[in-house]
Amino acid sequence: MAKAKLTFADIDVTVTVPMGTRIVTVSEKAGAGIVYGCRENDCGECMIEVVAGMENLSTPSALEKRLLQEKRAKPINRLACQTAVLGDATIKPA
Ligand code: FES
Repeated sequence: MAKAKLTFADIDVTVTVPMGTRIVTVSEKAGAGIVYGCRENDCGECMIEVVAGMENLSTPSALEKRLLQEKRAKPINRLACQTAVLGDATIKPA
């Protein structure tokens, strides 16, 4: 399976993950400072800032877009519980 490199800028750690891995499944193991609540696109606690590689992340669903809007997110923000890694990217907690 193809792999991608996901860098957590807040702790300067890069992990190699299978493409399609959701950020939520690797960030805690890596020790990154992303905070989770519901893990179901409901609370917005897991908002991240995409430092690089936005084009290498899964397209946000309509539900994620709606919650990002409600939380007044910027275009560089995503929800870590909803976002899958499809190529190299660098992120940090928002
Ligand atoms: S943890 Fe609640 S929206 Fe991601």
